[in-house]
Amino acid sequence: MSALAVNVDHVATLRQARGGATKYPDPVHAAALAELGGADGIVVHLREDRRHIQDRDVYILRKTVLSRLILEMAATQEMLNIAKDVRPDLVTLVPEKRQELTTEGGLDVRSFFQSLEEAVKSLHDAGIPVSLFVDPDSEQIRASANVNADMVEIHTGAFCEAKNEDKRKRLFSDITETARLARQLDLGVNAGHGLCYNTVKYFKGTRTIDEFSIGHSIVSRAVLTGMEQAVREMRDLIRNL
Ligand code: PXP
Repeated sequence: MSALAVNVDHVATLRQARGGATKYPDPVHAAALAELGGADGIVVHLREDRRHIQDRDVYILRKTVLSRLILEMAATQEMLNIAKDVRPDLVTLVPEKRQELTTEGGLDVRSFFQSLEEAVKSLHDAGIPVSLFVDPDSEQIRASANVNADMVEIHTGAFCEAKNEDKRKRLFSDITETARLARQLDLGVNAGHGLCYNTVKYFKGTRTIDEFSIGHSIVSRAVLTGMEQAVREMRDLIRNL
């Protein structure tokens, strides 16, 4: 059975939409509710530009998350220092570009072999397991094993965005084949990015993924499933003014 780690970055995005003037919605509260709903882990991406998750969120979540805290981050010295201080249950290293809307592709482990090897070692020395976010590409999976990562997170973005069924099926088979290769290399296998309530169904019966990391589609659905009650509560307040 696969696990589900819930990414709460987009709750922070909504909070930051008012430029820090509001304390709500708090990703810490969202994480607690996600755990009540059965999340096996909580994921946050602390970006260099702090566009959504803030340092304060990560430090509070470390104290409040009852399941597992997974910190996504770039392999920079600043982030390595924070990770060693916070001590999440897993660090997922991702590439990061300032201009991107969201993480756009997997790490090029082959090209950045030495710096990633050093980052993995420094996290291991602090007792923190490391996952590398990579495209479904066998060379990147092999390189991930060679830098001593504990696991990979296979990028499902292209599969989710495929414009037709043939392409989607082809991209899905790349994911399952590279997941099998990762297993053979003794790597744990997570998957994520862009997965929604439809695309996740493709994985039925595959049994190759340890944990799915999902954020945007869950937060999007929560906005709609919570809308009726939120309006009712404000309407009742206004009627009773
Ligand atoms: N995994 C990684 C490495 C990511 O960068 C993201 C997006 O922050 C996710 C998973 C979750 O993607 P989504 O929000 O599209 O579900």
